[in-house]
Amino acid sequence: MSSHTDPILPAALPQAPPDPGRLPMTLPLLIEKKRLGDPIVMVTAYDYPSARAAEAAGVDLVLVGDSAATTVLGHSATTPVALEEMLVLARAVRRGLHTPLMIGDLPFGSYEVSDEQAIGSALRMVKEAGCEAVKLEGGRPASVSRARAIIGAGIPVMGHVGLTPQTSTALGGWKAQGRTAGAAARIASEALELQRAGCFALVFEAIPSAVAEELMPRVEIPVIGIGAGPATDGQVLVFHDLLGIRDGLGPRFVKRYANLQEEMNAGVAAFAEDVRARRYPGPEHTYSIDPGELAQLHRRLS
Ligand code: KIV
Repeated sequence: MSSHTDPILPAALPQAPPDPGRLPMTLPLLIEKKRLGDPIVMVTAYDYPSARAAEAAGVDLVLVGDSAATTVLGHSATTPVALEEMLVLARAVRRGLHTPLMIGDLPFGSYEVSDEQAIGSALRMVKEAGCEAVKLEGGRPASVSRARAIIGAGIPVMGHVGLTPQTSTALGGWKAQGRTAGAAARIASEALELQRAGCFALVFEAIPSAVAEELMPRVEIPVIGIGAGPATDGQVLVFHDLLGIRDGLGPRFVKRYANLQEEMNAGVAAFAEDVRARRYPGPEHTYSIDPGELAQLHRRLS
């Protein structure tokens, strides 16, 4: 019977070792980065390898985004992902992170019902998955109340205005927001309400660059943009979008830094070809047995 010392079994993955030269990101450090005009880098992660990539790149913030619904779970929208699923993903991310601040996205349905529900979900993200902060979408009075309640319970909250994918149906579809003076003014007032509620940072998603530029001097907390142009304090992209682990190009604001879906497809296809052509496994992939033992086995079996 195999045991954990059996050399055939791969060793259990260690937790990622910390880099002693790097300071963990904290809320005061984040504010300092904004003060210095030092761009803040945020990326999403959903598992151990994506967390390791974020850690190795030295990003400042990692969001376990509810975009996991589409990027890793295969849904066509973010709304179906459950809190339980987010917790599983966030725990895996936690094992790969040391220095970036880890933010857990509260999924649709986990905070809308009441402030109590929102606090309960945020507590689970912190206690069961090791998140250091949570994010929620929207700046209408209900979302502001949820943010204030969670902050009151001692958990930092990141707000999110502009295109809020969880409520994109109500917003008229997956499209840029704030393209009229009235709509942009609403986004401004939502951002300021979330700031007043005590959010430590905001995401501006899919709004015109010129609108973001107008809002930035009015917002004191760090703002991370996605499809909001260059004026924000930092930028975030979805891990799978920036690495090309998806079909199609994605939204206009995505810049693709790799084509990993193509590489993955090619790798699996090459493996399949090798197996069918009996090129895999080669001798270097096999285990040996002492010839005497083999002869004895042969006798026993016959
Ligand atoms: O879920 C997510 O990935 C997000 C980012 C786009 C900010 O909310």
